[in-house]
Amino acid sequence: MAGQSAQPFSLLLMRKLLPVILLVFLFVSCHSEKELKIGVAVYDFQDSFITEVREAIMECSENDIPVTIVDAAGKQQTQNEQIERFINNGYSAIIVNSVDRTASGVIIEKCRQSNVPLVFFNREPVRDDMAKWDKVYYVGARAEDSGRMAGELMAEYWELYPHADRNGDGAMQFVVIKGETGHQDTELRTEYFIDTLLEKGLRLEKVHEDTGDWTRSGGYSVMTSMLLRSGDRIEAVFANNDDMALGALEALQEYGYFSTKGFMPVIGIDGTPVGQAALDNGMLLATVFNDAGNQAKAAYRIAAALAEGREPVSEAIGYDIVDGRYVWIPYRPMPGRLLQDR
Ligand code: GAL
Ligand code: CA
Repeated sequence: MAGQSAQPFSLLLMRKLLPVILLVFLFVSCHSEKELKIGVAVYDFQDSFITEVREAIMECSENDIPVTIVDAAGKQQTQNEQIERFINNGYSAIIVNSVDRTASGVIIEKCRQSNVPLVFFNREPVRDDMAKWDKVYYVGARAEDSGRMAGELMAEYWELYPHADRNGDGAMQFVVIKGETGHQDTELRTEYFIDTLLEKGLRLEKVHEDTGDWTRSGGYSVMTSMLLRSGDRIEAVFANNDDMALGALEALQEYGYFSTKGFMPVIGIDGTPVGQAALDNGMLLATVFNDAGNQAKAAYRIAAALAEGREPVSEAIGYDIVDGRYVWIPYRPMPGRLLQDR
């Protein structure tokens, strides 16, 4: 006691304060030097459209906050573990394209507990899950618009080419090759495609509907079995995406379409590079452009703002944020040759 009180006041102050000053200094320097990084968890690297989005995300990250992109290969369990690893490894924000969109609630809860902001894209979490935390955003495209546009393109073809009614019964015998079951794009694209044709006054007969799981091989095998069952009765094909449409085109060619049996109208969605090539060579009647580049940019910019602790407002992001946490990137109709050269 006596020794301590003998020390000059300033020295005493220094001895007491120094550790505190050091701590503050350490905290500040660690904090400002903390490397920002964004984790991106994707449902399946095999998916063509998602591949375009992830390549565009990589481009956005050049000279900006770096990203680590991981593949769940179609397994939600794998994705949950990947997200946990991102959290444990100090990632500043996470972009998620969930395997099963009903699993989003669990992901949101995990991130909320560790305060790691989240941006979902392409697979929309249900509203109840989105409401669980305010640092959760969604970037996507309105599936109903793409279905409506596909319907309008098909109706236009039907009106322009009377021979499209192959059996001359006044009704369109059509098939739908659906995407993954339960995906919002699958259900809404199909529903709005049909509703639009009905609104336009077409008489419809759905011959078959089956799922091709977004893949080219799925589209091929579903179309093959539809042709085996209903052969010449089919007059039009709507595939929920371009990859399945391309698979269907292969099956149709093997069956004699685009040669002896003539043209078969097939419409897809996405406008992927391979889809656009099929438009250009006149095989695909039409597609609807699903804007991978802008979905990637919006998701990345929101994640980057959140990572830096900024609020992602529309002005800073460059995209309209609606309802506080949604960005909707518009679809665009892409008519092929038959609908252009009139
Ligand atoms: C859709 C897209 C499909 C597929 C799917 C994956 O928006 O049209 O091709 O990529 O997302 O969730
Ligand atoms: Ca007919």
